[in-house]
Amino acid sequence: MKSVKFSALVFVLFTLCSPVCLAQEEIALPAPDFPRTVSLGEALQQRRSERDFSNPAPLSDQVLSNLLWAACGISSDEGKITAPSAMNRQDICVYVCREDGAYRYDASRHVLLKVSDKDLRQPIASRQSFAAQAPVCLLIASDLSRFERNAEQMGTVDAGYVSQNICLACVALGLKTVPRMTMDQAALHSALNLPEKTLLILNHPVGYK
Ligand SMILES: Cc1cc2nc3c(=O)[nH]c(=O)nc-3n(C[C@H](O)[C@H](O)[C@H](O)COP(=O)(O)O)c2cc1C
Repeated sequence: MKSVKFSALVFVLFTLCSPVCLAQEEIALPAPDFPRTVSLGEALQQRRSERDFSNPAPLSDQVLSNLLWAACGISSDEGKITAPSAMNRQDICVYVCREDGAYRYDASRHVLLKVSDKDLRQPIASRQSFAAQAPVCLLIASDLSRFERNAEQMGTVDAGYVSQNICLACVALGLKTVPRMTMDQAALHSALNLPEKTLLILNHPVGYK
């Protein structure tokens, strides 16, 4: 009896410590393939904040890939990104929050890393319930520890560039969005287990038109 219990304990410990169990769930995104649908002038003309996300169709991996690349993906051999970044500190991190959980966009590898099994769209929506209906909510955070001074200003401005990239990319990709500061900061900080110096700045519910 004792040896059965011991074997069960060994099995549980082995399973908990095995690399399979410890590996972070990862989604490899298809290479960005940005469509030439609208000119920059047309995208600027058509960009509007939209708040009806009643179309529940999930974003395809290709559309998500294009959107995240446009937001802050790698756009040069030296590792520069699509958005300007104060002192090129590349402090902005974009989280993809949807029904199946939350993912951190790793721009350097163009992959999504799962960081939570929870659906965080409700704390993102907070009092604006329309946002929780969107199939995807993007969350823009800044790692303020990358700056020695004026960190909040630098991080907030950097987030604004990424947000505008998202707004314009949505037009080009046939999506709708609205940049929002409304969100339950404390709940999201805790759910994503973020370091103290990470500031959640903006979010974007995103859905098909
Ligand atoms: C920094 C910032 C924060 C915003 N926060 C919210 C928000 O919390 N909720 C919301 O519905 N819209 C939010 N908006 C969207 C604005 O209300 C919207 O941009 C403005 O009404 C102008 O409309 P337009 O974007 O269609 O030109 C925000 C916009 C910015 C730039």
